[in-house]
Amino acid sequence: MKELHPDLKRIIISSESIQTRVSEIANNISKDYADKKNIYIIGILKGAFIFLADLTRELSVPHVVDFMAVSSYGKTATSSGAVRIMMDLREPIEGKHVLIVEDIVDTGHTLNYLHRTLKGRKPASLQTCVLLQKKRESQKVPIHYLGFDIPDVWVVGYGLDYADGYRTLPFIAELKPKIYKRTTESTDPGNK
Ligand code: PRP
Repeated sequence: MKELHPDLKRIIISSESIQTRVSEIANNISKDYADKKNIYIIGILKGAFIFLADLTRELSVPHVVDFMAVSSYGKTATSSGAVRIMMDLREPIEGKHVLIVEDIVDTGHTLNYLHRTLKGRKPASLQTCVLLQKKRESQKVPIHYLGFDIPDVWVVGYGLDYADGYRTLPFIAELKPKIYKRTTESTDPGNK
């Protein structure tokens, strides 16, 4: 067995468990949208790109993929700050069946902002699909499809990053607190 990268404390969700859950979610979405002509799937960059790629390839219903990038000004480990759109959709979504795909809900600010903003563009329906959720009392987020509840620790891999590193790890792992508490940059382990 390969050694875990020294910056990582433990694997929280294995690659196999992720793939199994992603298939289950894709089946549920395919069933729920079976009578719809097309799903307009919106991946939220950067974190959702791997989840979105795996999920959409398992769907058996017609869909198109688009992307948005958002950024949180003043984000810290416990707060998202103000959310703003860095890259918007290519097309209007009025009258479309829209599904937002996110990698993680932490404080819930990002998904709440996106839900509110996209609802205002008058889609025929608007649902959300989230791989990971850190459950918090204060959260009031509409999540229609959820992969896993996770503990309140810094997680990386399968799209999630720390300082833009670790995103392409095939599993979800907990980052050692000393890594995100220190000021110098850490080393990206790539796919090891
Ligand atoms: C992460 C994640 C969500 C958001 C969740 O994005 O992808 O969009 O934070 O946090 P919240 O529930 O507290 O709002 P991030 O800003 O790290 O950007 P990235 O996806 O480009 O890594």
